Amino acid sequence: MLCFALISGAFVWAGDISGSPSTPTDPQIILERGKRLFQNYCAHCHGKYGDGDGFNAEFLDKDPTKLSNPEFLAKRSNDKLFRVISEGGARVKKSHLMPVFGHTLSEQEIWSLIIFIRHLGKNGVMVTVPEGVKSKRPIRPALTRSDMASFSKWFAEKGQEKKQVDTGKLLVMNKKSCLGCHQLNDEGGRIGPNLNRASTNYKPEWIYAWISNPQIFRPDTKMPNLGLGPEEARVIAAFLVSFQPEEEDEIENKISGDWKQYLSAKGDPKRGEKIYNDPEGTANCSKCHLVKGQGGSVGPELSFVGTSRTREFLLESILDPDAVITSGYKTILILTKEGKFITGIKKNEDDSGFDIVDKNGKDRHIPRNRIKKFKTQKVSTMPGNFKDLLETQEVADLLAYLGTLTLPIITSSIE
Ligand code: HEC
Ligand code: HEC
Ligand code: HEC
Repeated sequence: MLCFALISGAFVWAGDISGSPSTPTDPQIILERGKRLFQNYCAHCHGKYGDGDGFNAEFLDKDPTKLSNPEFLAKRSNDKLFRVISEGGARVKKSHLMPVFGHTLSEQEIWSLIIFIRHLGKNGVMVTVPEGVKSKRPIRPALTRSDMASFSKWFAEKGQEKKQVDTGKLLVMNKKSCLGCHQLNDEGGRIGPNLNRASTNYKPEWIYAWISNPQIFRPDTKMPNLGLGPEEARVIAAFLVSFQPEEEDEIENKISGDWKQYLSAKGDPKRGEKIYNDPEGTANCSKCHLVKGQGGSVGPELSFVGTSRTREFLLESILDPDAVITSGYKTILILTKEGKFITGIKKNEDDSGFDIVDKNGKDRHIPRNRIKKFKTQKVSTMPGNFKDLLETQEVADLLAYLGTLTLPIITSSIE
């Protein structure tokens, strides 16, 4: 058994563990681990210190609980806390906006979160971790070709049916925690990308694959695995693909107007690859993007954009990068106390300051005590003038090349 006691703010051993070498025993290490997990998965809603004041809180219909509140903590047993973190709000008659984490984190990690939350409240309750707590994260089976084939078949036959779309809508709006982190029309959180444009940006197969198991594609994503069953995942994909935002989207006009020439020109993927990689060329995309282990990391990895993104979205990314800023790539402008401007992509933010990646791809930490002012910006770090620099044919070649960057298990119903 593993016990923690909080005595005047300090952890003291109250028990011992036997066997399991993977169980951390140093209370300080467990607390640190809980803190790291909390910052990665919880702080955007609950606030860094659990005060209910994360940046995302103001966009939610239900206030995230002030976890540091001793009165709240006194009312909840550790088992209750475990249950809500593991199974999500909806399962315990709380708001569906509180996500499910039991399909993403190990039991041990959830206990370390509880220990951290108790620590925030400083209310002196002893945390007794039950015996036999699993230290491995749950593994959800990877999707297979046949899973994907059966989705494509279902989608082609039933994906537009009102009944399916409505079931998906109910799940997204009222049952699952999607709106805790994503925006639809004016509603919802800002942790992940705005989903108003899901049908323009993503291929249906990708939505299905991603929401079924985000961690296989990006192991460190902040989107938890929500434990969706295949039926749930497919109706959600059907709903998102059919979703028509209230505000009309400009991309439709651009595609049917000015940009038609790019989409109708036939591209050559081989030439596109050369343009993409040419260090002397105007595009030099690989300077900033990783493809299959090669290239820079200023921008997002593009190893499978041919599977996940539509051609229209890829075209827009090249011609008008400011239109949609990829989640996690917002730029920040910092004015230091010495009067120097620093700009870069904000990767992390905490008490000590900001972690950014600057234009040369260098990681930098800017301590808070050096900062006078800062501002998040609406422009992309990606150059905005490719439309003028590249010929129509070159853009078509680039599109053809990006289209070859695929994940073999996911075949696509649209081109
Ligand atoms: C998208 C926003 C969001 C994220 C991310 C989030 N929560 Fe919550 N959480 C909420 C909301 C909203 C509530 C309020 C639920 C209610 O009172 O109905 C809540 C409630 C809770 C509660 C109290 C439930 C109760 O018993 O009343 C706990 C404990 C909790 N969250 C822990 C966590 C932990 C730990 C994490 C990270 C692993 C986390 N939350 C991540 C939104 C979020
Ligand atoms: C706790 C927050 C959270 C919840 C809950 C959540 N997401 Fe996400 N989602 C994210 C984040 C963050 C990203 C960006 C992922 C990345 O790049 O790592 C994302 C990305 C996505 C994407 C785009 C994937 C891509 O290729 O970039 C889709 C589609 C999506 N989520 C759908 C959903 C749906 C549908 C639900 C509900 C069933 C949901 N999400 C629940 C945080 C969340
Ligand atoms: C100076 C660095 C830089 C260069 C050069 C660059 N990009 Fe980007 N790119 C970025 C950044 C940063 C983002 C994320 C911000 C955004 O969405 O605009 C991005 C986003 C993208 C996206 C969207 C990815 C997604 O899934 O959301 C695509 C596609 C893309 N770039 C393709 C290209 C292509 C093709 C080229 C060459 C013609 C190129 N980039 C050149 C920095 C760069």
